[in-house]
Amino acid sequence: MPSVVVVDYGSQYTRLITRRLRELHVYSVIETPAVTPERLRALEARAVVLSGGPGSVYAAGAPGLPVGLLEFGVPVLAICYGMQLLARELGGSVAPSSVREYGKAVLTRQEGTLLGGIEGEFVAWMSHGDSVAEVPPGFRVTASTADTPVAAMEDPARRLFGLQFHPEVRHTPKGLALLDRFVAEAGVPRDWTSEQIIEQAVDEIRARVGDERVLLGISGGVDSSTLGLLLHRAIGQRLVAVFVDNGLLRLGEVDDVERALRGLGLDLVVVDASERFSSALAGVTDPERKRKAIGGAFIEVFAAEARRVQDERGDIRFLAQGTLYPDVIESAGADGAATIKSHHNVGGLPDDLAFELIEPFRNLFKDEVRDIADALGMPKHLRDRHPFPGPGLAIRCLGEVTAERLRVLRQVDDVFVSSLREFGLYEETWQALAVLTPLRSVGVMGDGRTYAHTVALRAVNSVDGMTADWARLPHDFLATVSNRIVNSVPEVNRVVYDITSKPPGTIEWE
Ligand code: XMP
Repeated sequence: MPSVVVVDYGSQYTRLITRRLRELHVYSVIETPAVTPERLRALEARAVVLSGGPGSVYAAGAPGLPVGLLEFGVPVLAICYGMQLLARELGGSVAPSSVREYGKAVLTRQEGTLLGGIEGEFVAWMSHGDSVAEVPPGFRVTASTADTPVAAMEDPARRLFGLQFHPEVRHTPKGLALLDRFVAEAGVPRDWTSEQIIEQAVDEIRARVGDERVLLGISGGVDSSTLGLLLHRAIGQRLVAVFVDNGLLRLGEVDDVERALRGLGLDLVVVDASERFSSALAGVTDPERKRKAIGGAFIEVFAAEARRVQDERGDIRFLAQGTLYPDVIESAGADGAATIKSHHNVGGLPDDLAFELIEPFRNLFKDEVRDIADALGMPKHLRDRHPFPGPGLAIRCLGEVTAERLRVLRQVDDVFVSSLREFGLYEETWQALAVLTPLRSVGVMGDGRTYAHTVALRAVNSVDGMTADWARLPHDFLATVSNRIVNSVPEVNRVVYDITSKPPGTIEWE
């Protein structure tokens, strides 16, 4: 599929550039500065974007332009560090700015291909130390700010464009329109849509799998469920989808997911393994040991089920995994090879179960998986669920995880989440959860004193879970939820709301 290749010079925004391009329905991938013309050809690159980067182009060992890029002949959009590289390479000059510019600035614009067509004031997000002092021959300055004489430059004949600011961030409100103009100028087709992604993935899966069969572990989450639907569309009954019920999901969630997936034609093997997980967790209070116990139990149950299905139906050659693009980029960045973060892996399967891996979501961001889920018919309330940790309610049950404590937590969680939905607050919140603490305290209920559990509620706003702020849920809403919990869950007599952001807190309590 024709693409726009984003060359990563280490900017924190590189991934965002790719996402914005995909919002414009253009297929975009990230490569390192070592990308070769052969690789660009294989990726069907119709344009290249050079990202920003933290360093100076004059620093020792600073990465340069990809070899052969300019001869490759596609339009180039060079951002920040990328623009400075381009300027230096083509005979311009770069110098440290007199003031380090950081923040919003209004551009003064001249006639230009990209910026010229955008109406009204153009506010741009700046973050740089060096800047272009002299543009290379053939280029003209198309925008400047009070502190940066060359805020944008272009050579329309060679279709080379440079921006000192960041069009990919929301702080540059017309940045998407600018990227849109670049994509139009480059003539890149807009065929990156859910339908197109599905069609291409289905073709690839069929070509790879042939007449063989594929095993998939379904956790109940959005990614693995969507992968199930996609594989089902591609290979029908040759998908063996095993839903391991670990007994750590939310109230009614197993039934809900099972019903929805079966309703869409998936032939699910559901394994009720709650006993197995419960005995693995008996007496365990340390969160890391809980995770290990759960991971170990999952492998055991999944392996046993895989063997059973193979005995019954014959050999299975492939194992599908819902690895996402951010996992691929992250691991590639860390060690240069495209290995995958281990906790996303069904790693650790015994040697007699040596499957070939198939990862149809390797090129997708999470929101793209959600769009696909929608296109494949997953009900909205399942598709739009908040992120939920693999170890499930076990890490929200502080102290020992017993059936009784899980039952209490599950009820509290259900009251909280269903109230959020009822008040229209669920979708505004990035993640919401209830924690059963090991605390008990005295309360009064009717005529009697109680000595019961304290639960904590947590709701956060976040973009990716790396940082988060506690959600300012309305006081009236919190009052209602607190009443509902204490009235409907007799084991609880105190409800607290967590007002810690991350950092210093984490999202989960554990
Ligand atoms: P923390 O608590 O580290 O969580 O701020 C950030 C995000 O990651 C989720 N989380 C997990 N997800 N396995 C998972 O699959 C885990 O062990 C795990 N621990 C935390 C958490 O729910 C939040 O969305």
